[in-house]
Amino acid sequence: MESTLKCIGVLTSGGDAPGMNAAVRSVVRTAIYNGIRVIGIRRGYNGLINGDIFEMNLRSVSDIIHCGGTVLYTARCDEFKTDAGLTKARNTCLEAGIDGVVVIGGDGSFRGARDLTKYGIPCIALPGTIDNDIACSEYTIGYDTAVNTAMQMIDKLRDTTQSHDRCTVVEVMGRHAGHIALKTAVACGASGVIVPEKEFVLDKLIEKMKRSQRTGKQHFIVIVAEGHGKVDELAREIERLTHIETRATVLGHVQRGGSPTVRDRVVASEMGHYAVELLLKGSSNRVVAMQGGKIVDFDIDEALAMTKTLDMELYKISSQISI
Ligand code: ADP
Ligand code: F6P
Repeated sequence: MESTLKCIGVLTSGGDAPGMNAAVRSVVRTAIYNGIRVIGIRRGYNGLINGDIFEMNLRSVSDIIHCGGTVLYTARCDEFKTDAGLTKARNTCLEAGIDGVVVIGGDGSFRGARDLTKYGIPCIALPGTIDNDIACSEYTIGYDTAVNTAMQMIDKLRDTTQSHDRCTVVEVMGRHAGHIALKTAVACGASGVIVPEKEFVLDKLIEKMKRSQRTGKQHFIVIVAEGHGKVDELAREIERLTHIETRATVLGHVQRGGSPTVRDRVVASEMGHYAVELLLKGSSNRVVAMQGGKIVDFDIDEALAMTKTLDMELYKISSQISI
């Protein structure tokens, strides 16, 4: 049966992530390739509520595949959680002739996509967040670039940490999840990693550092996931208990920027293409995800009910090879 889809909208929502532009490009080009018009929606759900939308063409997405951030801008929008906000958004879609929307963001954005679908506008969500904390997908757009950025920054910190025989405590992003922290800890050879998924015992870390000192280790990197926080306090405690001079660094939003890696550009291109194919098939309320390296899709409600655990095997490896 031929698709009745004539026009789709695309938006980015929540925290930006490198690779969002590659996803937008893929959505726009796949739609136009299939004879579908595309409307760009600015600043996430705000654009739908305020009618801040514009017609996109093939050239609207030229020269963006290598750029970080999002050319559609992004935002968080509390009004979208209300009936009034959703009604305005639906009316914008109806007036503009938008038959379906591709939403690129994290799980908050997925809830919005589910709600808009319930208001009659079919939505497909793509996992775009540096945190890699989407349960139904082993990968989220932006994660690889973020961990590579964190790794490069921590390598620089290692130079100065080593020169001064110090300990550096580094906070990385990840809101409520330790994926960025664990991956960078392994990549940077950190002596310790503190993640929200695993109880942290200060005495154990201190003991381990002292054991390493006895075998000749003179400098230390400890990586802390944002959810744990309190890096200044932790640095003071480490210094007090080990007598090793200790500094704290918060990497912050630098991890969200920069040109996306190959992995992020390719996954974003695949997922964007898949999202439009879902809409063409008449699917709605789906999340595009990666499982076993393949692109698949899930019902949004089912996806939101899933939970993601930290890679405990990698955690074990990290603690065994950082002695
Ligand atoms: P992310 O999408 O990166 O997880 P947030 O959790 O901040 O980022 O969510 C982004 C946005 O999703 C929110 O600011 C809001 O506009 C939108 N949203 C819409 N409906 C909901 C909802 N029911 N619950 C949570 N967020 C929602
Ligand atoms: O979800 C991505 C993320 O960068 C988290 O790692 C972090 O907790 C949060 O966004 C920061 O958000 P904001 O842009 O509001 O500072």
